[in-house]
Amino acid sequence: MKRIQPAKKIIGTVSLPGDKSISHRAALLGAVSSQGITVHNFSDGSDCTSTLCCLEKAGAKVVRKGSTLSVSSPSGLSSPSSVLDAGNSGTTARTLCGLIAGMPGMKATISGDSSLAKRPMLRVVKPLRSAGASIGGPSGGASLPLEITGTLLQGATHVLETPSAQVKTALFLAGLSSEEPTTIIEPVSTRDHTERMLGHLGIPLYLDGHSITMAPSRAPRGSEWTIPGDFSSAAFWIVAAAVLPDSSVCIPGVGLNPTRTGLLRVLERMGLAFTVEQSGLWGGEPAGTITVHSSRLRGTEVCGTEIPLLIDELPVLAVAAALAEGTTEIRDAMELRFKESDRIVTVVKALSAIGADIVELEDGWRIKGPSKLTGGRVSAAGDHRVAMALAVAGLAAEGPVEIEDPDCAAVSYPGFFSTLDRLACRSTEE
Ligand code: S3P
Repeated sequence: MKRIQPAKKIIGTVSLPGDKSISHRAALLGAVSSQGITVHNFSDGSDCTSTLCCLEKAGAKVVRKGSTLSVSSPSGLSSPSSVLDAGNSGTTARTLCGLIAGMPGMKATISGDSSLAKRPMLRVVKPLRSAGASIGGPSGGASLPLEITGTLLQGATHVLETPSAQVKTALFLAGLSSEEPTTIIEPVSTRDHTERMLGHLGIPLYLDGHSITMAPSRAPRGSEWTIPGDFSSAAFWIVAAAVLPDSSVCIPGVGLNPTRTGLLRVLERMGLAFTVEQSGLWGGEPAGTITVHSSRLRGTEVCGTEIPLLIDELPVLAVAAALAEGTTEIRDAMELRFKESDRIVTVVKALSAIGADIVELEDGWRIKGPSKLTGGRVSAAGDHRVAMALAVAGLAAEGPVEIEDPDCAAVSYPGFFSTLDRLACRSTEE
């Protein structure tokens, strides 16, 4: 249990762990690259460790010194002798499924923890099968465990039914060993880290409207670069600084990829006081410094194509909305029901328990503010992003918020609570 005491304000500079999505991709592409990759600021979250453990079992050479990671496969990847455990990580399970499905001669089973075992896998299995992949398992591929036999896949054109960067990534990874092009038509844009990293590693992609084509002619080349800080982790400090009076937080070296920073655009509409300074491209990814000051937030509407650009930030946006003036409606976010928990339900239960006025909708929430958050005991249902969002609510509440399951934060941000203790000012002298 973690007790979050209310804070008067938060002040300081935060250096963030490397972006989780980019870290997964660097590890996976490093394992199939011609000379291996070295990245600095690799994510210290347990999700990315799950990816590394799976790759090591499949024959990759992984060397981790502090936050610097090198991954290569001097003798190529081969069938692991035991089950690949993706832990709590949907990105690991789905992207690895694609990578293995396209490697002739590989055989592997992917499993995960009890939360991951409930999450849908057909979204990745179905399009892979349409390119010739052989994927089975006790549930016929609907959920983990997945049993995969690698095959030389045909080129294919996939129209993404669910806007999902994990599915897009799985299909590109599967297509890497194919002799024919892979085209993905993405009616609604999702995070484009895979496309950027493939380009950075010398695999050309052709963009035409909503369609992206990869024509692999060789393995990705090796490279060394620094992964920007995780915008999804920055989101907690951005909201905390916005909702607490007299606060200011500076976040240098954070990823500014526009397919990830939808939260900034929504908070800007709500009245956020902030600045952004770009500092160039890191491995093809824009990075820079975000500074946020206390703000008077107003309610807004968030829906449609904006949702995938802030999907992971919706729990903390719900906290901002509960403290903002007026009504906020979040719609078209049914995907929240398929995350580490059913986030629509988990957030409603926890925020109502501490005094927020939040109503569950089929595909989102209606939140009326500003509410006086009273504090109380809450469960994050083992979901890292909900646990950290509740901690931000605790900083702004009138009484302590006790989070029953705080350890799940380590899935993406092991240093979250110690950073919170450093930034939070609790006496008037600070
Ligand atoms: C991710 C994509 C998103 C996101 C997840 C990480 C990725 O999931 O919610 O935390 O790294 O590609 P979906 O692809 O299911 O939308």
